[in-house]
Amino acid sequence: MKVTIVGAGNVGASCAEYIAQKQIASKVVLLDIKEGFAEGKALDLFQTATTLGFNTSIKGVTNDYSATAGSDVVVITSGVPRKPGMTREELIGINAGIVQKVSESILLHSPEAFIVVVSNPMDTMTYLALKATGLPKNRIIGMGGALDSSRFKTYLSLALDKPVNDIQGMVIGGHGDTTMIPLTRLASYNGAPVSQYLDAASLEKVAADTMVGGATLTKLLGTSAWYAPGASVAFLVDSILNDYKRMIPCSVLLEGEYGLKDLCIGVPCIIGANGIESIVDVDLNAEEQALLNASAQKVMAMNEALNDIL
Ligand code: LAC
Repeated sequence: MKVTIVGAGNVGASCAEYIAQKQIASKVVLLDIKEGFAEGKALDLFQTATTLGFNTSIKGVTNDYSATAGSDVVVITSGVPRKPGMTREELIGINAGIVQKVSESILLHSPEAFIVVVSNPMDTMTYLALKATGLPKNRIIGMGGALDSSRFKTYLSLALDKPVNDIQGMVIGGHGDTTMIPLTRLASYNGAPVSQYLDAASLEKVAADTMVGGATLTKLLGTSAWYAPGASVAFLVDSILNDYKRMIPCSVLLEGEYGLKDLCIGVPCIIGANGIESIVDVDLNAEEQALLNASAQKVMAMNEALNDIL
């Protein structure tokens, strides 16, 4: 199996690292527009193969899409990342042009590939990739919900002081500081509702920390995060290539599900060999549905910025 990662920056390199280390694919290609950069990252990563014990090959190329031919999955991380104080939405103008061009170039060489979109604003970029390529919705997967859910579980684990893998929970809605919806009501500590152990104020704090999870890291690091985004991509790619059919919140085109249509937004999906194989219908209460509706409005308002392109 072959995976191409477009953009060899921090997120792209982390994707390559985790995919190789876990031997999720036999071949990884890293592509970047900056001369020699992807080659350097790929070579450095590949030189860890014997010490870490993996057999995945990693190759770097400068803007040479022919080297990506026959990819099963292509991950788009290219575009500019957030600087401290910036919202993901402010990146739209620059990143839209990049994501459109990259999606088209990918498909010339890998017409069957599944595309995982990481570039921000992620829901709008997923919608753009879908419209620009005309691919069916199962083949374009926005990764935000996987990342946001991992952050949610991390903050729950810290608040509960319990092992993070004993926590279940998901985040739906947009991948934005004011659009994501951590579903605290449905989160559990090994099946027991977390509300049995955390009071309403603590749960609200967990949700608030989750929503600004990316911004917190951008402030601390001076640029946007990469380990958790890279790992979330690897988690998604693993579920596709191994047909695990895991339920992962992803940004997907809605066509009436959850009462919404004509936008890509995060909802729980079954991810397997056919990409997004189905959308899982979770019973939301009135408050959660209202939050999702409001989130959708904001995402759709952002999508309007694409009118000049599409
Ligand atoms: C983040 C970026 C990848 O949330 O959107 O860290």
